[in-house]
Amino acid sequence: MSRAVLITGASSGIGEALAYEFARRGYRLAVLARRVAALQELEIALRAAGSPQVVVHALDLRDPAEIEPALSACAEMLGGLDIVVANAGIAPRTPVGRGTLADLQETIAVDLTGACATVDAAVRHFRARGGGQVVGITSIARYRGLPNFGAYSAAKEGLHRYLQALRAESWHEQITVTELAPGYIDTPLNRAVRSRPFVIDVETGARLMADLIERRVAYATVPALPWRIAGRLLQLLPTRLLAPRRP
Ligand SMILES: NC(=O)c1ccc[n+]([C@@H]2O[C@H](COP(=O)([O-])OP(=O)(O)OC[C@H]3O[C@@H](n4cnc5c(N)ncnc54)[C@H](OP(=O)(O)O)[C@@H]3O)[C@@H](O)[C@H]2O)c1
Repeated sequence: MSRAVLITGASSGIGEALAYEFARRGYRLAVLARRVAALQELEIALRAAGSPQVVVHALDLRDPAEIEPALSACAEMLGGLDIVVANAGIAPRTPVGRGTLADLQETIAVDLTGACATVDAAVRHFRARGGGQVVGITSIARYRGLPNFGAYSAAKEGLHRYLQALRAESWHEQITVTELAPGYIDTPLNRAVRSRPFVIDVETGARLMADLIERRVAYATVPALPWRIAGRLLQLLPTRLLAPRRP
């Protein structure tokens, strides 16, 4: 039987493109998000692209109690999961002292608590099953607190640390922990952002990410270059070069 992959945030952008890429490679799929109508349309396209079985499930990560039951229901329908991709995320502007508490809370709820709880549920499933691969999607924004996106940077660095802890905790188990940190990939998440250096299209991004997942890498920026180097440089950049212009 072909391998089964679960992807959160599959109704748009990277999650959707990754689902297509895995469908083309013959994987069985579970696709999750809030917009179930979009997932149902996607289901038809994924079957046409070559996936032998597709499961659609509603999931709102703002309610972490939904996560484990959703993952278990998908696992049951697919006869077990081999890979879980904690991909869903949001990136609203959260300028410090000028943003809203609602945006701050939602960013942490979805990008940090929701992603970590997805990783948690995946690991419990893999332990019961004897193994599997969990994939966390962070961002180059984790390398530095980016102006106006402090909550997003904090959440992505938080997820990075959570995955790092898991890698040590699961060292003696059959659990592979993969972290992918994209640069700029053209999706609705960042279309309003004025500057998107080295942006790549989402199909290319998904192909690179599927390759990295299949190679079971521990950590990679996407694309690897220039971000492997640019991420490190971002950490060294003097603050004044990141400061927004004077109002
Ligand atoms: N695009 C980039 O350049 C880039 C760079 C670095 C990292 N990333 C990361 O890549 C991941 C995917 O981003 P994207 O660019 O593909 O964004 P996107 O096109 O906006 O897609 C985001 C996905 O997350 C889902 N989502 C949002 N809020 C949710 C919630 N409360 N519960 C469940 N699902 C929710 C959305 O589905 P519903 O709205 O239907 O729920 C959607 O499917 C994110 O973690 C993002 O931080 C992206």
